[in-house]
Amino acid sequence: MLQIDLSGRVALVTGSTRGIGRAIAQTLTAAGAKVAVVGRDKAKAEEAAGQLGGEARGFSCDVAHTASVAALVEEVEKSYGSLDILVNNAGLTRDNLLMRIKDDDWDAVLDANLRGAFASIRAASRGMMKRRWGRIINIASIVGLTGNKGQANYAASKAGLIGLTKSVAKELGSRNILCNAVAPGFIETDMTAAMTPEARTAMSAQIPLERLGKPEDIAGMVAFLASEHAAYITGQVFVVDGGMVT
Ligand code: NAI
Repeated sequence: MLQIDLSGRVALVTGSTRGIGRAIAQTLTAAGAKVAVVGRDKAKAEEAAGQLGGEARGFSCDVAHTASVAALVEEVEKSYGSLDILVNNAGLTRDNLLMRIKDDDWDAVLDANLRGAFASIRAASRGMMKRRWGRIINIASIVGLTGNKGQANYAASKAGLIGLTKSVAKELGSRNILCNAVAPGFIETDMTAAMTPEARTAMSAQIPLERLGKPEDIAGMVAFLASEHAAYITGQVFVVDGGMVT
């Protein structure tokens, strides 16, 4: 039987107090990893870590601040003695039509979704290179592949994340550091909760599996990519969207 065993590995998942990040933290913990749960609010991160059990611990960091990201990686490495699996999941949307996107909306989305991932990869890869083992998994989006009306900033950040993923894979492959992206379709979380019932119905109609995805649908792919079963996979984008984009 194919079993995912991450015992002995230390994982850091950004934005993991809720939604997809929380499901990823849960799945990695269940597979035996020690998970650093990261949120902007330390109390919430500690609470979420406490609910996960295992050796999960809570940390706070706003990924839009590169200095905080570097400090976070240092703190996690000190606390657990290693950092083997980095999941860049924190992300946000500031949707609007192109003509109405303010510079601030552009910067907020690019700073968190793209520069945050860059900063954490830069910080985490130092130790991974020394240990000659690392798994970096970036949570992109299908809109980074297809584009989307009203999401020019978000789609650009996710397309950038895919370019970053492929570059890191090429640069760090010789050190046994693998870097892949997962591109979710429409997943039931707070991010998509704001959709009207009509929009949800219209969206579901475009999905061959006829339902929105669950955070666990994404977490399974992340756990696989972090495991030994994925030892020969790098620089790829895995679409998990119920068949929406072909
Ligand atoms: P969510 O809004 O429930 O969770 C996002 C998490 O990221 C939150 O905990 C939030 O506090 C955190 N976050 C946002 N900005 C941050 C910052 N500057 N520093 C630290 N943490 C920050 O959303 P969801 O749906 O769980 O999204 C997780 C990831 O999946 C995001 O990167 C999102 O873009 C991506 N995604 C989600 C899809 C969906 O349909 N829900 C579809 C495609 C991609």
